[in-house]
Amino acid sequence: MSEHFIINGLAGKKTLEGEIAIVGAKNAALKAIAASVLFNTPLRLTNVPHIEDVSRILDMLTQMGGSAILAEHQVKIDASCLTTTMLTPEIAMRIRASVVLTGPILARYGRVQFPHPGGDVIGERPIDLFIEGYLKMGAKVTRKGIMYDIKAPKGGLRGAEIFFRNISVTGTESFIMAAILAKGTTVIRNAAMEPEIIWLADILNKSGAHISGAGTPIITVRGSKLLSQTKGAFRVIPDRIEAGSFIILGALAAKKLTVRGIIPEHLESLIELLEYTGTKLVRGKDYITISQSKTKTPKLLRPVSMRTHEYPGFPTDLQSPMMIYLTQIAGESFVFETIFEGRLNYTESLNRMGANITMMDPHRVLVKGASQLKGSVLESPDIRAGLAFVIAGAIASGTSEIHNVYHIDRGYEDIEKRLRGIGLDIIRAGE
Ligand code: EPU
Repeated sequence: MSEHFIINGLAGKKTLEGEIAIVGAKNAALKAIAASVLFNTPLRLTNVPHIEDVSRILDMLTQMGGSAILAEHQVKIDASCLTTTMLTPEIAMRIRASVVLTGPILARYGRVQFPHPGGDVIGERPIDLFIEGYLKMGAKVTRKGIMYDIKAPKGGLRGAEIFFRNISVTGTESFIMAAILAKGTTVIRNAAMEPEIIWLADILNKSGAHISGAGTPIITVRGSKLLSQTKGAFRVIPDRIEAGSFIILGALAAKKLTVRGIIPEHLESLIELLEYTGTKLVRGKDYITISQSKTKTPKLLRPVSMRTHEYPGFPTDLQSPMMIYLTQIAGESFVFETIFEGRLNYTESLNRMGANITMMDPHRVLVKGASQLKGSVLESPDIRAGLAFVIAGAIASGTSEIHNVYHIDRGYEDIEKRLRGIGLDIIRAGE
């Protein structure tokens, strides 16, 4: 039998207690690993999460002729002499993040071939912005079936003016990286402003790049030469999505929980929303503590109307954990998922657990609470909804089984051990 989690739920009791430390951000580590292609020295990173997506992207670089050693949350990657410019199709089709490799490989090696990233349960995930941007930088694009073949012009990519119709995180990162080795200057407008992008630009600038404006909607990159890591390893910033998920779990099920090793400023939108609904948080320099009020009759939480938005708005990656929280608030809450059209389908499974969530259209749901969730057998559809199911199982009455844990392992390191550490009854079965 394939691996699954078995959780004995707390049936609404708030007994979790202790501290949970946050690991490095998946969506920062993956991009820095892709950036190694722009270096003429090995690239060393610390605080790298041990998760499936990181292992797969390192496998891909190794299969393409690079080398990578991952141990104790440190990685050393050498992608300075790849022997092929074809992204390993089986991996590229499974891991959407591999699309960020297209920019640096095209810029450095003059060509990149890759399959159209597979459709994802969270939505279509097109790559039109990538293709249009590379064309603007002078590249030629051919497509045969699902395979793209992109060739830089003689003399290399040229700086370009790029405007994103939709704000794209991996798009912004790919063009920052491609522009570093292009001739002239590239300006990216309507760029994404995620903290992971600011961090990426920062480590690239420390290695010789000329990027300005990261963290604003207009990013300018002056083309230069191959990068070198001259000082110590770069430390991956903490995973704000993992942190946010644990804070939500704490608000729902903890007597007292401290989520440590975080950058609270990266979580403003979540903190604001939790506080608006009535959850009290104590915020330190690098931690957040949630504890239940000692009064006999805890204050009722108030419902909220919320929408996901690019950073600094409420992250789509925290929408599903937040949904569990909203099922526990009396009254009507409303969620508008503005980024991905398939990212509310998992709510059907929550209804089977006893939630009352009505899908109004693919982007909007109405949540009527409060509902006591009942343990159920669930299939994890993607990384984030998978973790939301773990949270749902934790607060439900009875036992839940969560299958397809591969998806959860893609994004969260040792999740069951860490949750056991704060008192949750969760085991991995079927190994
Ligand atoms: N879009 C286009 N054309 C493109 C690219 C994107 O129309 O060529 C659209 C998308 O369809 C979507 C919107 O633009 O509607 C935003 O997509 P974006 O490109 O920003 O998403 P992404 O870069 O593929 C990253 C994260 C996601 C996170 C989103 C939004 C990585 C590896 N992935 O995806 O994280 O949900 O940004 O913040 O950084 C996850 O970690 O579970 C995850 C899915």
